[in-house]
Amino acid sequence: MSDASVRRRFSDGTTADDLKAYMAPFVERLGYRLNTDEGFVDAVLASELEILAETGDVYCPCRIRTGDAKADVAIICPCIAFHMDEFAALRKCWCGLFIRTDVEDGSSLEGVIETTSGPVDVRVAAYDDLADGQVRHVKIGKRDIALARAAGEYFALSNVCRHAFAPLAEGFMDGSQLMCPWHGWRYDVRDGSTDHPDADVRTYPVTVRDGEVFLRVEL
Ligand code: SF4
Ligand code: FES
Repeated sequence: MSDASVRRRFSDGTTADDLKAYMAPFVERLGYRLNTDEGFVDAVLASELEILAETGDVYCPCRIRTGDAKADVAIICPCIAFHMDEFAALRKCWCGLFIRTDVEDGSSLEGVIETTSGPVDVRVAAYDDLADGQVRHVKIGKRDIALARAAGEYFALSNVCRHAFAPLAEGFMDGSQLMCPWHGWRYDVRDGSTDHPDADVRTYPVTVRDGEVFLRVEL
């Protein structure tokens, strides 16, 4: 989104409802929605409207602007596309104006969080979401991951077959083996190994806590 397009879209008379109407479908395509706490949303948007009046753009109220339009474009709200990995891990944008669509109550996710680094656990499923022998595609930021359940345990490995890049999550489970849907290469979901030379795929640590499944990823 260029600065010019923001200025055209938001006039002096822009209201919080205008921002919501613009933002909601935009972030929905990215897997987010406005926080369920309407009072909190209105407070954040009131700040954004003040910034709009001051600068002509809807910059994030919880980020520091540099004054360089090219650098600051990454904090024009909604900024989700610029920070996919961090927000997927947090399950919200920095201040919690937007939450992942599977979060039922966003009030616990309010408040500014500084940029995260290091390993984080990302919730990807409820334990009962998959039965043994089922696989699901999970996207965390730019990572394409196949989440599989075998013998009551969850495993996560790259979704991309090393032969011709087929999506492994569309393949078939045979015990702990995941068969590629295109030409049948087999990967062991426990360690990503295959009997083709130099073709193992990476795996991700998985934990199950309180009936929820988490993947550990590095930010
Ligand atoms: S962190 Fe949230 S409030 Fe701030 S710009 Fe990004 S989406 Fe908007
Ligand atoms: S693309 Fe996976 S076996 Fe060919």
